[in-house]
Amino acid sequence: MIFRRFASTSSLPPTIRQLFQTDLVSFKSKRVQINGWVKSIRRQKRIAFAVISDGSSPQSLQAVFTDVTLAKSLTNGSCVRLSGVLSDSVGPEQDREVQVDAVEYLGECDPAEYPIAKQSLTVEYLRDHAHLRARTVPVASMIRFRDQTQRTLRRFFEDEDFTYVHTPIITANDCEGAGDTFSVTSSPTPATHSQSQAPDKEKKSHFFGRPAYLTVSSQLHLEAVASSLARVYTLSPCFRAERSQTGRHLSEFWMLEAEWAFATQLRDLCDVVERSIKSVLNQQSSELPALHQDIPDVRKASLEAASRWDKSWASISYTDAVAELQKYQDAYRKFRFDPTWGGPLQSEHERWLAEQLVGGPVFVTDYPTSLKPFYMRANENGNTVACFDLLVPHLGEIVGGSLREERLPLLEEAVKLHGLDPEEYGWYLDLRKYGGAPHGGFGLGFDRLVQWISGIENIRECIPMPRYAGRMLL
Ligand code: 4AD
Ligand code: MG
Repeated sequence: MIFRRFASTSSLPPTIRQLFQTDLVSFKSKRVQINGWVKSIRRQKRIAFAVISDGSSPQSLQAVFTDVTLAKSLTNGSCVRLSGVLSDSVGPEQDREVQVDAVEYLGECDPAEYPIAKQSLTVEYLRDHAHLRARTVPVASMIRFRDQTQRTLRRFFEDEDFTYVHTPIITANDCEGAGDTFSVTSSPTPATHSQSQAPDKEKKSHFFGRPAYLTVSSQLHLEAVASSLARVYTLSPCFRAERSQTGRHLSEFWMLEAEWAFATQLRDLCDVVERSIKSVLNQQSSELPALHQDIPDVRKASLEAASRWDKSWASISYTDAVAELQKYQDAYRKFRFDPTWGGPLQSEHERWLAEQLVGGPVFVTDYPTSLKPFYMRANENGNTVACFDLLVPHLGEIVGGSLREERLPLLEEAVKLHGLDPEEYGWYLDLRKYGGAPHGGFGLGFDRLVQWISGIENIRECIPMPRYAGRMLL
């Protein structure tokens, strides 16, 4: 382990993580102050021990009380400030402990009433107590893992000279055209007034003078900025009013989207996706050992194989994928839905492709035009578009991306074909009219990435406060 001297420039007291990382010599005979929560207590006649966590890392600090009266009122869940001297621990599990000589009670907690006092609580119970669940070990680990993952991704895009852009959450367009948007209204809602209103009054009742929605994807706004800054990305919340109650869908989720000019080949887009995700798979995470405790070894081996820099991920066209699925269906009749060219890949198809056919992540490319949004670049054959979905074992799709149609007449045609109003998309068409560049990009489901790598069963446990149809606590 590398020890760093504790940087004394911070005005904040050191966290437990910093105390573990810092060379003990820096603290020799110096008193430290620990702010945290009691995770457990063990009392003996002449000595008491408490495990203290401050959430800064999965490691807790052992507090030793040689004056047992100091620990008299400590309870699980209570918030304390302890003062004492840091030393090497004699216990086998800890390498640091604090010999406490003063205790300040900051917040008491009655263990008889504390809703999460028990050790093992079901995920459903914890979903019902969303305000308290960050205090449990797995949820705290997941939250820190999200943070580590976003830092890694941001470092990756910084190193590739991308500019981080703040894109709007409120928008006038439904980028994906799937019609599953949430409307934004000011209060009182226009719905309570509009029935008896004349059209111009109705228009006025829109806060922005027109209908507004929560964004489903930042892509179109990123494209506008990419036509000047060339390489841009964002990590932003996205909102979809899908009713699907699956373990992979949230109504509010986070998407990392990247968009860059001068991209002309699909495989170049896939290469950036692959390298960015591999940088996450290879990150040093303090959280994965705990998160991976209960997942089967095959899943760990599969993640390990996917992380290898010397082995590129597979790629298959949609057309070939459907042919493989059909062969398998003809032989074994295992799928509930028959795979057909022109039909969407069902979740069972996606998982079979990644888990059985390829045995790892796979890019499925060049889907039929009719299955995809208006902005994707048409291929020469006229019936497919230059796009890809990245499918991973045990989960399915985690990334979608494409080259964007930069040829104005073809884009105008696509807008009409999808029944969109060319006036609404005037600004988007302008991007092609004035110095349009060939470009492309992708959207990576951040929560799904966390789900895949952590092995957490349900996406609702991959975000601190999940929102899904029928459920929004806090
Ligand atoms: O495939 P999608 O719909 O692609 C887009 O929105 C593009 N405009 C992105 C782009 O090219 N800039 O969504 C991208 C990813 C999916 O692959 C999935 O991982 C995630 O976003 N996603 C969801 N994650 C959680 N809950 C949902 N309801 C999701 N919908 C999509
Ligand atoms: Mg998609």
